[in-house]
Amino acid sequence: MSKSLARENRILSALLEVSKVLNSSFDLEKNLSRTMRVLGDFLEMERGSVFLLDQHTKELKIVAAHGLTKEQISRGKYKIGEGIVGRVLEKGSPLVIPNVGEEPLFLNKTGSRFQKSGISFLCVPIKFKGESIGVLSADRLFSDTDITIDEDIRVLEIIASIIAQYAILWKHYKETEREKENLKLQLKGKYSLPNIIGTSDRMQEVFESVHRVSDSKATVILYGESGTGKELIAKAIHYMSPRAKESFVKFNCASIPEGLLESELFGHEKGAFTGAINARKGRFELAHGGTILLDEVGDLPINLQPKILRVLQEREFERVGGEKTIKVDVRLIAATSRNLEEFVAKGKFREDLFYRLNVVPIFMPALRERREDIPLLVEYFLKKFNIENNKSVSLTGEALRILADYNWPGNVRELENTMERLVVMSGKDSIKTSDLPINLKLPSPDEVLQKESLKTGIEDIEKSSILDALERTGWVQAKAARMLGITPRQIGYKMKKYGLISSPGMP
Ligand SMILES: Nc1ncnc2c1ncn2[C@@H]1O[C@H](COP(=O)(O)OP(=O)(O)O)[C@@H](O)[C@H]1O
Ligand SMILES: [Mg+2]
Repeated sequence: MSKSLARENRILSALLEVSKVLNSSFDLEKNLSRTMRVLGDFLEMERGSVFLLDQHTKELKIVAAHGLTKEQISRGKYKIGEGIVGRVLEKGSPLVIPNVGEEPLFLNKTGSRFQKSGISFLCVPIKFKGESIGVLSADRLFSDTDITIDEDIRVLEIIASIIAQYAILWKHYKETEREKENLKLQLKGKYSLPNIIGTSDRMQEVFESVHRVSDSKATVILYGESGTGKELIAKAIHYMSPRAKESFVKFNCASIPEGLLESELFGHEKGAFTGAINARKGRFELAHGGTILLDEVGDLPINLQPKILRVLQEREFERVGGEKTIKVDVRLIAATSRNLEEFVAKGKFREDLFYRLNVVPIFMPALRERREDIPLLVEYFLKKFNIENNKSVSLTGEALRILADYNWPGNVRELENTMERLVVMSGKDSIKTSDLPINLKLPSPDEVLQKESLKTGIEDIEKSSILDALERTGWVQAKAARMLGITPRQIGYKMKKYGLISSPGMP
């Protein structure tokens, strides 16, 4: 094979290799570095470098280079028109410095060429749609006298055009990625309600439901442990609804003796029962035009449930001791910390009422199920109580970590009370671990159990290995101790602890 044919072959292989590398992924720096290595491996072009124009700073920066250190790479910055690289970008046409050592324009910024003579410097623009977006450069040693510079430039230009396509595709790819990230960020925390904290997925679901149902008159039921924010959410639904200007009436079905419940809810006429001196409106009438929250709805006595069902279906009822049917326009929100389905199964709650209430269920997560929100809540309450108490108390990182790790059985209510107490009681500017209530620092019952079982497990093992050693050594304590790698004194202590004594007849 003639020398030039061999070179043709290597050029084709190099081009093939470059297109393979650049098709592999969008890892810009890695793939361009690999491309520069191909220049060296196949075409005897050393220190290949790719410069791309930063659209913001209008500077050319090395994105990838072969045979340069990181430090040298970071030094390789040019302004448009500066040095050879800057000129090539500006003019948009290739430049060759046949002998680097004799060229004053050659800035050698990276400081990579100690011995400048004997090297040609080749530099071609990277162009897309006629516009220069960067520069590709490489060194060529003089010794190969039979290679024309023109041929080298032609090859570099082909590679530069492949790089141009790649760089543009990469840029689009990056932009799409960034847009996707932005969208995600916008979506996270997309739903917000005034004074209700929660960016966790679980709370975002709750907020989304609130936004979805608030316009309608649909009955909503809120499930969740005490202190999870059921009442807060019920109010949010009301104040975001077209009924916002009308009243929000809250009634806790568990808070009043059964005998008084009916008249509290539906009112009574004068003389309906002993003590009913005047007629009185019930909660449903007071909520007319607005919203009523029936809290702990599971505690409604079964005999009262049909009357609630009728209000829900017909929006009408009679006062206690009254004949006149009263019509109301009320939106009902129910809340419960109980498992209503279980109540239905046990016959404590009417199935028809359950289905009437369960139109839009919203499940409030326990605080321990959305721990990521704890720091936000801590910050929120810290600010709130600092303002209320005219203080500027902060929290150490360690104290925050303890709050974030605690189980919060009383949920947000417990956290809120804890923060209020801490701010009020704090004499200093900073709340430390030692200022926290003791129960926050104690391990939870689960953890205690775990540790206990670990301890007894270890003790069992210890006891049986001591017993084993004693039996093997015929209960000679000193021998057994040696076998176990402990002192005779220690074995005596352990034997006492585990109640180990040799059986009668043994030495
Ligand atoms: N996500 C939250 N952001 C801010 N405060 C909350 C949040 N959830 C609950 N709270 C506060 O915690 C306390 C208990 O909330 P509440 O709605 O009464 O709970 P529940 O009705 O489920 O027992 C209230 O003072 C409330 O303002
Ligand atoms: Mg409540």
